[in-house]
Amino acid sequence: MLTDRQPRVSMAHLPTPLEPLPRLTAALGGPQLWVKRDDQTGLATGGNKTRKLEFLVAEALAQGADTLVTCGAGQSNHARQTAAAAARFGFRCTLVLRGPRPAASQGNLLLDRLLGAEIAWAEDVAVDERLEKVMAELGERGRRPYLIPYGGSNPVGATGYVAAMEELLAQCAQRGLGFDGIVLASSSGGTQAGLVLAARARRYAGRVLGISVALPAEQLRRDLAELASATAAHLGIGIGFAEDDFDVDDSYLGGGYGVVSSLEREAVRTAARSEGLLLDPVYTGRAFGGLMDLIRRGVFAAQERLVFWHTGGVASLFAHPDI
Ligand SMILES: Cc1ncc(COP(=O)(O)O)c(C=O)c1O
Repeated sequence: MLTDRQPRVSMAHLPTPLEPLPRLTAALGGPQLWVKRDDQTGLATGGNKTRKLEFLVAEALAQGADTLVTCGAGQSNHARQTAAAAARFGFRCTLVLRGPRPAASQGNLLLDRLLGAEIAWAEDVAVDERLEKVMAELGERGRRPYLIPYGGSNPVGATGYVAAMEELLAQCAQRGLGFDGIVLASSSGGTQAGLVLAARARRYAGRVLGISVALPAEQLRRDLAELASATAAHLGIGIGFAEDDFDVDDSYLGGGYGVVSSLEREAVRTAARSEGLLLDPVYTGRAFGGLMDLIRRGVFAAQERLVFWHTGGVASLFAHPDI
């Protein structure tokens, strides 16, 4: 395995299931759709951050940290999973969240509080600025904070998705399956960068298509190339990446990050009602909505086999009664 020598704690429920979606496939008239259930990774309702946190928490423990610190949007899934990992491994946790404190604690925010995280609202300053201040304050109070970047997307975190791609390829080999492509929601890039790095190292020939949920494609591709190259260096794999190595579609950004429209609503309802599969309105709903649109526009042939990589986020449904 490409990641065998990396320090890692065990908290994810692995391998996550790889399941066919026959009713969705029939409803959309092909391609053959499957789902990789990383909404079932465990850790306080699951999601992609569990895989990243296995490596990040190991580094925090090695450094003798006593507090995990991270940042994100008010409904950040990453923040909620970091709070859960902190509780699980005996750290304290401080979350720096964007914007003002909302009137009610719903969805992920409810869970952040339940999991015991301290929350610092950025209010009207930039999250990075508030984060810097929080790190300094924790140091002054004699704490040993370990900073996890936005989305857990640094080379240590992205290592989780290098291992995840190898897991998928092993499942395929065991079951005699092959896939023409993988489709996923892409934001801070750690998930897609890790998958593409392992795909290249293991000579997987299919597409790895990231549906951007926040950034213009040009910017996301730049971030992905930088992160995948740094992750390869971290793992001692002699591969460098350029922007063109990443397949990104930013056609579904709509009103911007987290702005729910008919695209996400239709995707969330369709998956729920045809397969009993819950998607979230911000990430997987947008990515699956994009995939449904690409299918309707004939981008994929009916006999192709695709994996939709479910990256979690379901807790945020409870902050979106409008869905
Ligand atoms: C549910 C969900 N899906 C996908 C993503 C995107 O993953 P990445 O930030 O690694 O691109 C996130 C990130 O926060 C997420 O919470």
